Amino acid sequence: MAGKTPREALLERIQNRTATVGVIGLGYVGLPLAVEFAKAGFHVVGFDVSERVCKLLMDGKSHIQDVPASEIAAIVREGLFVATTDEAALAQADALSIAVPTPLSKTRDPDMSYVIAAAQTATRQAHAGMLVVLESTTYPGTTREVLLPPLSERGLTVGEDVFVAFSPERVDPGNPVYHTKNTPKVVGGITPACVELASALYASCIDRIVPVASPEAAELVKLLENTFRSVNIGLVNEMAIVCDKLGVDVWEVIDAAATKPFGFMKFTPGPGIGGHCIPLDPHYLAWKMRTLNYKTRFIDLASEINSQMPALVVAKVALALNGDKKAVNGSNVLVLGVAYKRDIDDVRESPALDVIRLLEEQGAVVTFHDPYIDTVREDGHLRHGVALTPASIAATDAVVVVTDHGNVDYQLVMDNAKVIVDSRNVTRNLVKTNARVVSLAANSVTRAGL
Ligand SMILES: NC(=O)c1ccc[n+]([C@@H]2O[C@H](COP(=O)([O-])OP(=O)(O)OC[C@H]3O[C@@H](n4cnc5c(N)ncnc54)[C@H](O)[C@@H]3O)[C@@H](O)[C@H]2O)c1
Repeated sequence: MAGKTPREALLERIQNRTATVGVIGLGYVGLPLAVEFAKAGFHVVGFDVSERVCKLLMDGKSHIQDVPASEIAAIVREGLFVATTDEAALAQADALSIAVPTPLSKTRDPDMSYVIAAAQTATRQAHAGMLVVLESTTYPGTTREVLLPPLSERGLTVGEDVFVAFSPERVDPGNPVYHTKNTPKVVGGITPACVELASALYASCIDRIVPVASPEAAELVKLLENTFRSVNIGLVNEMAIVCDKLGVDVWEVIDAAATKPFGFMKFTPGPGIGGHCIPLDPHYLAWKMRTLNYKTRFIDLASEINSQMPALVVAKVALALNGDKKAVNGSNVLVLGVAYKRDIDDVRESPALDVIRLLEEQGAVVTFHDPYIDTVREDGHLRHGVALTPASIAATDAVVVVTDHGNVDYQLVMDNAKVIVDSRNVTRNLVKTNARVVSLAANSVTRAGL
């Protein structure tokens, strides 16, 4: 490509699909993205620090529920995808997407160690004509502060030699409608050439690209989206507490409000929030704003309310057992669903873990059932799930519905349980039996005939 600028050469390689794309971090975000790039015809090099993940993928298997093993096997077989722990393989890439974790530290500040390590990897393998895009959710300013200085130190000028952008990932695990390909992708580049190239790359495999003026704007878009969810879940959880005190059915109130065809968006209460995004991401923004002497009150309040929900669920268990003249101490409690949301197999930050811990602290004997999860490791303690049978249900003093998976036979639970604490309203349309149902959010106890 003699005579072409690095920008022109890279654009051409993207447009004619001869570019090689590197993906750093092959988890919930990186793996679906790598598959989309490969399906678009690019050669994809996936780099992950986990030997286990790379071996699994090269064997044509998948560790991510939403990515079928058959797709991995096909792109490996066609030579379009390799997964490796050898970062030197990224040197052949024309573009890098970074999708590594952004957790919180013990003090709930951003833990940037993974992004910094990935930025160092990218910098070591960078060459003139390379595009580097950060996808990990993070505080506004990260792309400019963490990615740019090491690239500049290597003598690469951003916007001329190398191109840097931020493009937040919006994947919604378990969503049957929206996947990587049909979810619009926001892109913010350091320079116009950066946003142009990043947009061209993603447009090759994602239906709609939404360019914004800067990486900071793109970083903030993601934080607004997830803060919006956190705050609205906090609001509706507070409404559940309000309804509980007033003796009103919160689910009925929400469903009726949702008939308004404008100006209302339905959120539902529950046992708390989980996953890698909603409980963590808003704290990245809160932390950043604290450095600017500003307190993000909505974030703090929503977090406070949402994090109290597991304790409310456990209080309901105590109330329910009390109705049978039993104490939590010594009672057998079955936690139904431990994933952080329905129809997925992810327990990260799941409120079910808090519910289990709080029940055990009060002396309950806790078991769990989750159709997607066989074992849960919490505080170094490995626990195995139990089968959901009439006998296992009947053997419990109370069943607590924490996650409303779609493939659980709730009528079976209703038919065999003595007491059900229903934090998700899964029992609403079941045939009533002698099981007492205690709702998260109405000061009432229902059973057949009541
Ligand atoms: N999971 C989601 O639903 C979701 C949705 C949108 C955005 N995000 C964001 O995307 C980012 C990634 O999240 P995830 O859920 O995919 O995480 P994940 O834990 O599923 O995957 C991350 C992968 O990165 C690997 N890794 C860690 N450090 C590395 C390094 N230095 N170099 C190479 N690989 C490394 C890990 O081994 C792991 O396989 C986070 O910032 C998260 O907030 C996640």
